Amino acid sequence: MSTFLVTGGAGFIGSNFVHYVLESTDHRVIVLDKLTYAGNRASLKGLPVNRMTFMHGDIADADLLDELMPQVDAVVHYAAESHNDNSLNDPRPFVDTNILGTYALIEAARRHDVRFHHISTDEVYGDLELDDTERFTETTPYNPSSPYSSTKAGSDLLVRAWVRSFGLRATISNCSNNYGPYQHVEKFIPRQITNVLDGVRPRLYGEGLNVRDWIHANDHSSAVLTILERGRLGETYLIGADGEHNNKAVIESILEIMGESAGAYDHVVDRPGHDLRYAIDSTTLRTELGWFPQYSDFHAGLEATVQWYRDNEPWWRPQKAAAEAKYQLTGQ
Ligand code: NAD
Ligand code: DAU
Repeated sequence: MSTFLVTGGAGFIGSNFVHYVLESTDHRVIVLDKLTYAGNRASLKGLPVNRMTFMHGDIADADLLDELMPQVDAVVHYAAESHNDNSLNDPRPFVDTNILGTYALIEAARRHDVRFHHISTDEVYGDLELDDTERFTETTPYNPSSPYSSTKAGSDLLVRAWVRSFGLRATISNCSNNYGPYQHVEKFIPRQITNVLDGVRPRLYGEGLNVRDWIHANDHSSAVLTILERGRLGETYLIGADGEHNNKAVIESILEIMGESAGAYDHVVDRPGHDLRYAIDSTTLRTELGWFPQYSDFHAGLEATVQWYRDNEPWWRPQKAAAEAKYQLTGQ
């Protein structure tokens, strides 16, 4: 039995990981979360209090980290500013949390010799052409496009340098776009679902031909747990579930699932620097560590996600107006 320090455990993917670990193992979890606009304690409701502790704080707080590190066997680092659109409007918090916050954490893990797993994104590799036959692999050169993805790339490089220079016992994973319960309504899929629930037409950036490689959050969690259990120290693993769909097709599926006509959405102004396509080759994770995704039917996963937002309006309603107010400023 291990104790994990899960940073950002009140956010979307972090909270899904906490649920997954507490439901499928006997490990314990300490969540460290600053509760920014994206953090929500309600995402951790109902979890066993004897195996989960919540600590409200900043990953950049070195004194707090010195208190927590002796209590844990590993850090699983999800905390980040995570939304590309926000990073275009105000990049500073991305530098503070994603770069300086990660720096504080790896220094603390080094001081206390604690195993570290860094959660990152496929966006560090930039984007692909629609007809490119190659997908991202562990050796694809870094080429981030947005303030968000460049700060994630910076944090990955810090972790790699700490492994090489200081022997930090660390692994890194770069995952594609997640979907599932507890995702903030600023993000593409929950934004459209909750718009339809509110009687508002979904909003598609540009032509909507941009492709994302969707993976269910539970598959991301099982991959991270696999890497914690069996990953080789110093390695990077790409996590993906072969779920490529363009944005237009995703909106049309949501509309169909929700009983609306396929064309009932609006095109809005495109995202500046909008990455065209992401696609992950997760062969290393599958062949070396024996991990496979369980949620291979994207349409069924989308139906379950629509149902989750139908059933959990008290969870998302308090975030909705503020998220839409930000989009109004950019006409999106
Ligand atoms: P999110 O925005 O939903 O959650 C981020 C969480 O981090 C929130 O609970 C927030 O309160 C917390 N946080 C932010 N700054 C903090 C700080 N300084 N100290 C402590 N806590 C802080 O993000 P998400 O979508 O769940 O993403 C989690 C991680 O996964 C990020 O590192 C992101 O880069 C990575 N990732 C996300 C996706 C995706 O599709 N969402 C895909 C691949 C990788
Ligand atoms: O690839 C992994 C990344 O996926 C993570 O690192 C990020 O944290 C996560 O936010 C996500 O980034 P994206 O920018 O791909 O996700 P987002 O949900 O913002 O947008 C998905 C696609 O949908 C993107 O092409 C932009 C488009 N979009 C988005 C919104 C919010 C729309 O067309 N309309 C919208 O209203």
